Amino acid sequence: MEDITLREGLDGLTPARIATLYRRAPLLRPTGDRAAIERMFETSSLVVSAWLGDRLVGLARVLTDGEQFSFLCDLAVEPDVQGGGIGKKLMAEVLARCAGTELVLRDSNLSGGFYERLGFTRIENGWMKRL
Ligand SMILES: CC(C)(COP(=O)(O)OP(=O)(O)OC[C@H]1O[C@@H](n2cnc3c(N)ncnc32)[C@H](O)[C@@H]1OP(=O)(O)O)[C@@H](O)C(=O)NCCC(=O)NCCS
Repeated sequence: MEDITLREGLDGLTPARIATLYRRAPLLRPTGDRAAIERMFETSSLVVSAWLGDRLVGLARVLTDGEQFSFLCDLAVEPDVQGGGIGKKLMAEVLARCAGTELVLRDSNLSGGFYERLGFTRIENGWMKRL
């Protein structure tokens, strides 16, 4: 898709804009809790956003130690522009910035094919505990 620009950091992002994108994508996140969204973004290692002019159309958010491990926390694209290459463009930036580490993520049931397309391998040896 033409005219998509990427920004790194929190430039232009507000909790309200982020929550709207999450709701529409959809991506299950605490969209009613402005303070939670602020904390999630302020403590992230890497935030990359995609813009169509002044319109926020995509977001990727990562925690990384810069050496060994990176975790893709969120990836979301506005539904009306999904399938236009924005997710791939956001991920290209994430992959470049996390080079040298092992990038892991939790997918939604619908998005597995996207990561497979990008060369990710499904892993079975993961564990989680909700705290
Ligand atoms: C998953 C998501 C981020 C993909 O972003 P996108 O901008 O629609 O994807 P792109 O257009 O960049 O697609 C890149 C490639 O992956 C393929 N692809 C995209 N979504 C796919 C899917 N669900 N299954 C299989 N392939 C998919 C595209 O066909 C494209 O292939 P190509 O390189 O051969 O053209 C987006 O659909 C989304 O926000 N979904 C809802 C939220 C979500 O599920 N987020 C991920 C949670 S981990």
